[in-house]
Amino acid sequence: MFNPREAARKIIEDIRGALKGVDDCIVAAVSGGVDSTTASALTYLALGDRVHPIFIDTGFMRKNEPQLVRESLRGIMPLEIYNYSERFYSELLNKDDAEVKRKIFREVFYRTLDEVLARLECGYMVQGTIAPDWIETLGGIKTQHNIIGDLNIFRRRIRVIEPLRNLYKDQVRLIAREIGLPEKIWRRQPFPGPGLLIRTVGRFELDKLNIVREATDIVEEILREYSPSQYFAAAWEDAYLDNGTASLDSGIEYRVFKARATGVRGDSRVYSHMVLVTGLSGSHDLYSLYKSFEDKPYSRSILNIAPSEHGGGQGYFISIRSVDTVDFMTAEVTRVDMGVLEEISERLLRIKGVSGVGFDITPKPPATIEYE
Ligand code: XMP
Repeated sequence: MFNPREAARKIIEDIRGALKGVDDCIVAAVSGGVDSTTASALTYLALGDRVHPIFIDTGFMRKNEPQLVRESLRGIMPLEIYNYSERFYSELLNKDDAEVKRKIFREVFYRTLDEVLARLECGYMVQGTIAPDWIETLGGIKTQHNIIGDLNIFRRRIRVIEPLRNLYKDQVRLIAREIGLPEKIWRRQPFPGPGLLIRTVGRFELDKLNIVREATDIVEEILREYSPSQYFAAAWEDAYLDNGTASLDSGIEYRVFKARATGVRGDSRVYSHMVLVTGLSGSHDLYSLYKSFEDKPYSRSILNIAPSEHGGGQGYFISIRSVDTVDFMTAEVTRVDMGVLEEISERLLRIKGVSGVGFDITPKPPATIEYE
């Protein structure tokens, strides 16, 4: 049985032990997510103000996120915000492959962190890496932004402290609560390091990013009361491989998006087109529909929610994603009333530039939780 008090005590003791006799300072990069915040707070508890908690604003945060995170940590640890969004945007603009985007993000992130470490003259840094991060990166499923791997970016020798490396998300939440982080933080849904970048699916463009940010705000506001494990919006071009609608033997109609997304098959990663399930009639079980595509090379199924006059290539398509999971290695789709999905869709269609809305009905596996 996991004992968060004992785990926190042991982590703090280990950090003190590892830095015993060392007279160097430590940079703790906080993203506002539960992992990095908990890792930083444990290190701050262990070593006090030798630790510099910083927030690198990559430009892929949700609305007002840096300020909200700083505010919610007031009294626990001070947080300095560094805004590098222009740098991230200029390096990523027009890049469209999921792994290329992730790799550039990671490279720019660590280059930036290296600059901050040099500026603060610290030789150590703390990361909120948890077990699934390195398991999935080693498995080749995707490039997690916080797995340094063979990156050779740091100009000086930097030592990395990863106090949560062997833990899973639910255990981290218990520790966070145990050490007095506000409920807003420990209950917070996970938010990936590359943030809205990996939900701005396909070619990275600023207008698409701004739409994702706006859509995320709406989806979070409405779905919050269901307390799903993770819920958000993603956007891609409302464009299809060919103009026609195909149908399965079961009568299910679908169109294939030009956009691609990641999924998992067995232990490996797939990166392939998604389908929009359109002409549903009769008594299909919505949450098993994805199985109809299991023998086809598609990464996930999205149920069309927008009224049928919408859609078809003029703007962006927004996908609503909501999943329930314990360990984030597998996940179920949250059962959301159709009425609620229609309410969200109505609000999303009012965002300028949005021409279609759907609900992602694919569990993990065969999809991943994020799109890229
Ligand atoms: P996937 O998409 O792999 O996501 O099913 C599983 C969990 O991991 C989060 N995630 C990330 N977290 N950096 C992070 O800090 C990343 O690069 C990253 N990619 C995915 C995702 O949000 C979900 O909670």
